[in-house]
Amino acid sequence: MNKWPVFCLALSAFLVPTAGAAGQDVQAGQILYDKWCAGCHGFDGAGDGYAADYMLPRPRDFTLGIYQIRTTSNGSLPTDEDLVHVIDKGMPGTAMPGWEAKFSSSQINDVAAYIKTFSPFFEREGAPDPLEFGRQPRREGIAEGREFFEQIECFKCHGDAGRGDGPSAPTLQDDLDFPIRAADLTENWNFNGGGSVEDIYRRLRTGMDGSPMPSFSDLIDAQFMTEEQLWHVAQYVHSLSPEEGPTISDVIVARRFEGDLPASPNDSLWNQAEAFYIPMVGQIIADERWFAPSVDGLWVSAAHNDEQLALLIVWHDPSESPDPKWLEWQQSVAASMFPLLDSVGVTPLPDRLTVQFPTSIPTGRDRPYFLMGDARNPVYLWQWSSQGDVVPEATATGLGNVQPRRGESRTLASSAVWHQGEWRLQFGRSLATPDSEAELQFATGELIPIAFYAWDGSNGEQGSQRAVSSWYGIHLEQPTPPSVYLSPVIAMALTVGLGLLVVWRAQRREEG
Ligand code: HEC
Ligand code: HEC
Repeated sequence: MNKWPVFCLALSAFLVPTAGAAGQDVQAGQILYDKWCAGCHGFDGAGDGYAADYMLPRPRDFTLGIYQIRTTSNGSLPTDEDLVHVIDKGMPGTAMPGWEAKFSSSQINDVAAYIKTFSPFFEREGAPDPLEFGRQPRREGIAEGREFFEQIECFKCHGDAGRGDGPSAPTLQDDLDFPIRAADLTENWNFNGGGSVEDIYRRLRTGMDGSPMPSFSDLIDAQFMTEEQLWHVAQYVHSLSPEEGPTISDVIVARRFEGDLPASPNDSLWNQAEAFYIPMVGQIIADERWFAPSVDGLWVSAAHNDEQLALLIVWHDPSESPDPKWLEWQQSVAASMFPLLDSVGVTPLPDRLTVQFPTSIPTGRDRPYFLMGDARNPVYLWQWSSQGDVVPEATATGLGNVQPRRGESRTLASSAVWHQGEWRLQFGRSLATPDSEAELQFATGELIPIAFYAWDGSNGEQGSQRAVSSWYGIHLEQPTPPSVYLSPVIAMALTVGLGLLVVWRAQRREEG
């Protein structure tokens, strides 16, 4: 038997440095890395783990030594503290999880040290000193920040209202030629490096290397603007998001109106109905799966007047599809997610949204299978397409098993407007219809299951490749004093509380 390999292995164990600079244990870091990080980032750190093809943005390629979340100047390596920080917190809005709950701080140090060994630059150059960021000025300057937002052309990528729909947005690529979205600045809970004014200011000073997001430090160096003015830009960006990130409630309350319901998606009457946030995830349970959904949440408001029900569904989508300007984007998403299928996406696709109900109000906890029902338990659908190419009402007995409902007596109406990266879609229907067999008959005071599907055509989404929610409940207020009807809502909320878990668990099973 040839003993050389064994000998070499033993020798190499002596050659690999076991301790990094500040008591970092590179070998311990490697063990953690191989177990927890390699599935995405690859065993050799090249960003090509087995899961890498299923995500956009893709896992970082550590061999290049290019990092986004730094305190160092544009084009520089990150400090050890930067690496530890980003591993601790993860990168919200991407697949990169935070690890602070799972690892001790010395473990995070070890794994950070190991990551550095993938790139020769760390040993050769090391990281420069962090930039001086100073403190946020006490005087708030949101209006001045807005002026600079226009002057230095943030809107070109991020759009006038900040929803990632600027004229350059469809053309953006990262340094490795993968499509990359200009961040939606109205959702700071998804900012990769954190959503506070301080976080935003740092990203503006350092840029996000490897992505089109530039650094603006040179504008200060060139005395085009002061540090204080750049802080005001950060304050302005921060002001575009709500004070608090969205909270999820299991029940959408349909406000009872006396008289007229809102007539259109922009009707100011909608201000009187609360908007409920519904998180959306990619459909990854049935074939063909979709790992890069563009719509990650909907805001749903509902109103009724004992005769009609109106639903307002609002979501962000940087393109009003079908839009030829986004065709290249659509193709490059398809190419990065499905390297084998180059025929995907030759024509621009429309945006779509579907609302799903059971065909009748269930007794107890019984609900149809959340993914379009099944043969035993069909679902009843309200469908909308930006191209008008769907039959508005349908029933379904499973994915791909949709039976459109045609006929004279249809009462479902819908209207939609797209403005600056936001769709506002209103559905309206009478509570009761002639066909009580296949069409849900709405009743006040009940908890009625409701779920949603969304497609961003410009992102290449169609068919089963869509964003999905789990079941929620919609409750039509009754004309009784609040004290009487609040408690049933809470009781019913408990029975649907498991809704989110369904999706979550199914995904876990999928991953495991
Ligand atoms: C589920 C997949 C996944 C796993 C597991 C994962 N990462 Fe990541 N990671 C990503 C993705 C995706 C990105 C890039 C996000 C982006 O570019 O916006 C990333 C980026 C990073 C970055 C770059 C940060 C920057 O400033 O640019 C570091 C460092 C990192 N990951 C470290 C780790 C470590 C260490 C582990 C294991 C403890 C790990 N990752 C596990 C998906 C993953
Ligand atoms: C050339 C296009 C482009 C311009 C111009 C641009 N950005 Fe960005 N910006 C991006 C892209 C792309 C991202 C997403 C990077 C990523 O996800 O990795 C981004 C991300 C961001 C983020 C999110 C940071 C995070 O932690 O995820 C903020 C905030 C931001 N930009 C603000 C600005 C402001 C303010 C300006 C103008 C001063 C600006 N951007 C100009 C392309 C641009």
